[in-house]
Amino acid sequence: MTDDTLLLGPTLRFDGDPFHLPWAEAVSIDTDGAVLLRDGHIADVGRAAALTVAHPRARQLRYDADRLICPGFVDAHMHYPQTAIIASWGKRLIDWLNDYTFPEEMRLADPTYAREIAARYLDLTLAQGTTTVASYCTIHPHSVDALFGAAADRGLRIVAGKTCMDRNAPEGLRDTAQSAYDDSKALITRWHGRGRATYAITPRFSPTSTPDQLAALGALWTEHPDCLMQTHLSEQTDEIDWVRDLYPQARDYLDTYETHGLLGERAVYGHAIHLTPREIDRLAETGAALVHCPTSNTFIGSGLFDLRGLAGRGIPAGLATDTGGGSSFSMLRTMAAAYEIGQLRGTPLHAAQLIWLATAGSARSLHLQDRIGSINPGQEADLTILDLASTPAIAQRSANASDIWETLFATIMMGDDRAIAEVWIAGRQIPAPP
Ligand code: GUN
Ligand code: ZN
Repeated sequence: MTDDTLLLGPTLRFDGDPFHLPWAEAVSIDTDGAVLLRDGHIADVGRAAALTVAHPRARQLRYDADRLICPGFVDAHMHYPQTAIIASWGKRLIDWLNDYTFPEEMRLADPTYAREIAARYLDLTLAQGTTTVASYCTIHPHSVDALFGAAADRGLRIVAGKTCMDRNAPEGLRDTAQSAYDDSKALITRWHGRGRATYAITPRFSPTSTPDQLAALGALWTEHPDCLMQTHLSEQTDEIDWVRDLYPQARDYLDTYETHGLLGERAVYGHAIHLTPREIDRLAETGAALVHCPTSNTFIGSGLFDLRGLAGRGIPAGLATDTGGGSSFSMLRTMAAAYEIGQLRGTPLHAAQLIWLATAGSARSLHLQDRIGSINPGQEADLTILDLASTPAIAQRSANASDIWETLFATIMMGDDRAIAEVWIAGRQIPAPP
């Protein structure tokens, strides 16, 4: 007997980065593809005819031509504690934080509520085909335990960290430089590298940390250089003005991180919309990653991220919902919003680039590209099977498509959780939601 499973059907393949190669050289769809799953990993990939012969004892699952076997989606920046306040009306960033976000994050002081929201969030996003997220938690260490625990229960690969804030946040949502260091260090010991977990040292953003706290977290990162460091950078112009007032010595926003040891190759900055030439140069020199959060940037009114320009400078970028500043849990909707922002900048993205961003691109921004994000031998078998005709509106457009890319583009632009036919985690199909 063998536990091998052979998935047969249209398969999305990556051979490179479609922002540096012509997209058709980097991304392909094998309409007669096959993927062999063994021990939670992808063991073989190729043509159906060849793999059925090579692996005759494997259990076979055949997908129709209107299905697409994709890597699971990777959401490279989001806030699980904001699940219950997604789509809160009418504010810009700082008022949105004060009026909606901080009161909700305060509720996660209750460990039972934190566990309830962590479970709810992961189930909502799994239904959207998202198999890995990089999440901010709250200042409460138990909020980190809640998310890592809920991810472990579901077998998910995950990135998360305790959000650190020691000023400009309400009483009850502030830690100190020392407690942020101590709590984060204990959480690294408890979770980093355990199962499928990666710890990200997480100062929320420069306005809510004192220089002492940033320095303490910079020191912690030096002690644990294999952790990621995630934070926010240059999301809104009024936020940048505030940073200038709070850090009068700093050359720019990025410098507030750099001078405290919080710039490096494993840094991941969300948003990064309003960058100066010096900041772009430093990001390119250090290899730090950016994360594009398009539904958030339109919802909170932040601006238009320059994906093409920054990719042209060799700066890696991932894609993210930024739940709950972002207005959707869906990476399909997020790809659509990235397309729309590209259009507003005069740089439309191809479907191949959009789906690469939501999978391999996001995985690379989190330094997980060797484990997840593409369908290659050795990768962990996290897969999302798309239904490319999931609604009458999409089906009629697909029927009129001249090639598979037009078909996929219709699902990217109009698809929702009905387009998620199946989700596989570490080689096992997860049951459909009740
Ligand atoms: N900047 C600092 N905190 C946040 C947050 O929670 N969401 C967004 N969108 N931006 C932030
Ligand atoms: Zn964010």
